[in-house]
Amino acid sequence: MRGDILWLALEETTSTNAIVREEVMAGRAKEAVCWAKRQTQGRGRLGRIWQSPEGGLYFSWAVPVGGWPPVWLQPLAGLAVLDVWREHSGPAQAWAQPAAEVGLKWPNDIIVRVRGAERSQERKLGGILSEYLTQSIGGPHAIVGIGLNLNTEIHLPEEDTAKRALPPISWKQITGKDHSPEEIAQALYEALRRRLDAMGASGEHASATLREAWAAACWTLGSEVRVLRPDGGQIEGCAVDLAEDLSLVIEDTHGQRHTLTAGDCLHLRPTS
Ligand code: BTN
Repeated sequence: MRGDILWLALEETTSTNAIVREEVMAGRAKEAVCWAKRQTQGRGRLGRIWQSPEGGLYFSWAVPVGGWPPVWLQPLAGLAVLDVWREHSGPAQAWAQPAAEVGLKWPNDIIVRVRGAERSQERKLGGILSEYLTQSIGGPHAIVGIGLNLNTEIHLPEEDTAKRALPPISWKQITGKDHSPEEIAQALYEALRRRLDAMGASGEHASATLREAWAAACWTLGSEVRVLRPDGGQIEGCAVDLAEDLSLVIEDTHGQRHTLTAGDCLHLRPTS
């Protein structure tokens, strides 16, 4: 335990989200963090597998839901990852890839834009999976799971990289150095906690601060996008707004607006 928080640092586990879930469901902890260096059953969004090899950082935090809307935990986590990136990446001039920028893609990706001679390319640095538990002992909990390609060795043949919509990249590939998973896990927790506290006990500052900050960091807004919906349909257009519940508002070429709560978003022509 670290104070009132159950803190588990593991070499390997099934899924860190599953571990913190078990702990709070059983009432063994009110608040729990679990991070691991490998996962054998890592889970991604929309029921996908999250490949979790050595070198990555797999982090989950279960926290009792206060008066704040649980839907805000996912964007809050994206901003917290950006905070940690800024605090721990060092000066860009010293990076192996100084032309890289880090930002967010709706709904839950941490992405990197690598500026090339002709056009910039986007790559995936990490993802976020949030869940809500209404039946846990001691009241409802939210879980936020963050998977980061930290020191991961990524060897994708050039032709595979070109074919993928969002090929992976690691922090190490950008900065050119190894990052301590212990330090980054601790920093993630602190950044999440700071951002959560800033939202106010009942989320009264959420729309004023968090929504604006997220809209500024989310490169999807203003981009031409194609969103593949979970039902198999797809919508193409310009991402023009974020609704209060973080649904993405897309305007198609006929000027018709569509509000999407979930889906896979592809930036067709990234802004700038
Ligand atoms: C995505 O699909 O992009 C989100 C992936 C989130 C993966 C993280 S890794 C830590 C936590 N444990 C899991 O099993 N999943 C999340």
